Amino acid sequence: MTEAIIYDSLSGNTESLAKEIKSIKKNAYYEKINNKLIEELPEYDIYYIGSPIIKGMCTDKIKRLLQKIENKKIFLFITTGYKGEDYYESLTRRILEIIPKSNQILGTFLCQGKMQDAVKERYIKLIQEHPEDKNLKVSIENFEQAKTHPDQKDKKDLIEKIQELSLT
Ligand SMILES: Cc1cc2nc3c(=O)[nH]c(=O)nc-3n(C[C@H](O)[C@H](O)[C@H](O)COP(=O)(O)O)c2cc1C
Repeated sequence: MTEAIIYDSLSGNTESLAKEIKSIKKNAYYEKINNKLIEELPEYDIYYIGSPIIKGMCTDKIKRLLQKIENKKIFLFITTGYKGEDYYESLTRRILEIIPKSNQILGTFLCQGKMQDAVKERYIKLIQEHPEDKNLKVSIENFEQAKTHPDQKDKKDLIEKIQELSLT
């Protein structure tokens, strides 16, 4: 089975997961997504594809890549600012919907990834303007929670999930 690890990452969180996968899959093709790669996608049996969530979806480049792949095995790894069971389910559904049905989804992994300080500053400003809005407080809590992720446990969980896959 030939394998490829392809990812997008704006601030390094998803990239750190991609590196972790590469560390156990030394022979795998490994590259950050770019236009050439989307246009001339090399053939592999299994694609480990990573993306941050940007405005409720994977990045545009990863979306274009996912829409193109046919008849392959795919494992998705995703980092998000916010966390929640329902939220993760709806994100997963939304992303799986864009992948052609000829592919086999081997599994998915989602975890939090730290956000930029500007996000917190924006929430603080909004709280000053709308002190009654409880959602803003939850958003700040989420920001604080994300700060240390992806952490060693996230990476361990990801690798365990991949090692449990039946790749035959
Ligand atoms: C412009 C922008 C939009 C984002 N939108 C979302 C979002 O809709 N939902 C979410 O959970 N996180 C969102 N995030 C947070 C990122 O998904 C999260 O920090 C992720 O780990 C970033 O991964 P990266 O370092 O690989 O780019 C957003 C981040 C940025 C910069």
